[in-house]
Amino acid sequence: MGDIIITRDLTKVYHGHIKAVDNLNINIGEGEIYGLLGPNGAGKTTTINMLTTRIASSSGTATVNGYDINKESLKVRKTIGVVPQDLTADEDLTGRENLTMVSQFYDVPKQEARERIENLLKLVDMTEPADRYVKTYSGGMRKRLELIVGLVHNPKILFLDEPTLGLDIQTRSQMWEYVRQIQKELDVTIILTSHYLEEIDALADRVSIIDHGKVLVTGSPQELKSSLNGDIITITFREQNEADAMKNIPGVLEVTDSGPNTVRVKVSNADESLPDVINFISTNKLSTMKLTVQKPSLDEVFLEYTGKDIRVEDPGDARKMMMNMRRLRQ
Ligand SMILES: Nc1ncnc2c1ncn2[C@@H]1O[C@H](COP(=O)(O)OP(=O)(O)OP(=O)(O)O)[C@@H](O)[C@H]1O
Ligand SMILES: [Mg+2]
Repeated sequence: MGDIIITRDLTKVYHGHIKAVDNLNINIGEGEIYGLLGPNGAGKTTTINMLTTRIASSSGTATVNGYDINKESLKVRKTIGVVPQDLTADEDLTGRENLTMVSQFYDVPKQEARERIENLLKLVDMTEPADRYVKTYSGGMRKRLELIVGLVHNPKILFLDEPTLGLDIQTRSQMWEYVRQIQKELDVTIILTSHYLEEIDALADRVSIIDHGKVLVTGSPQELKSSLNGDIITITFREQNEADAMKNIPGVLEVTDSGPNTVRVKVSNADESLPDVINFISTNKLSTMKLTVQKPSLDEVFLEYTGKDIRVEDPGDARKMMMNMRRLRQ
């Protein structure tokens, strides 16, 4: 399938000196769930804002569904749905009224809108609270509503900027299920930003890790994890053993001592090597007390490419705003 979004040296400089997005080059395939992963201030929202034509780029180009973001912004807007980082639904209307309002804004014929709204509500289990005021909704219900508000005009591409920010982990994983469902049932391409690694890992077919406006690496979460080269199998034997011969098992990269009667076996892929390792243990009649398998997580990938842990960088919005203001004054 072709690429539905292509960016070429897409750049945004604020106030002449803040390079928020720096020569971004990405290709997003039709039907993909594509993640932009990066810490606060990495340039995720700025990228989304350019692609959705909310702001103009400073240089470079991008096409969205074949349309140039700078020259054909109206056409771009008709083919995309956007769920922004901040909540946008009107609290003094019901969920259904919010959806209907948006459908009118996009000139969706009445009957078609009614059917589509019904269908969307069902898709995210919101049929029951649809006629309640939004102000009575829980955080999760509100986010589910926001999610389908972006789909009322049947777009080909859906942009989700931090779709689960501030939700607890259980509600978050429910949202992931809904996002997956939407992608499957409605056949949309989804661009998702997040600084939750688990979210990208669970949802994205491919991801670009970005920092300081630049793409550091692109690949499927699995590829990125595998690129770190090595799952770890840790084995504790009942007694001292000469486990050095394990080096000869196919796929084993390294065997090191790791505590009393314990070895740390680094393999390129644990799923492939584990049967051989177990076979080695039984053929040599080794008696084991414990065997664990550890696969690298996206945390480690992130650390490897950005040189920092994503979790320590989570300043609240107020602090972020102050930091931005300070930057502007400089
Ligand atoms: N309107 C603006 N004017 C000036 N600078 C801005 C503006 N919007 C964003 N920036 C700066 O551009 C950089 C990228 O910001 P952006 O909001 O795109 O990051 P982000 O990856 O979405 O971060 P977050 O995870 O906090 O949402 C930051 O340094 C930010 O301070
Ligand atoms: Mg953002």
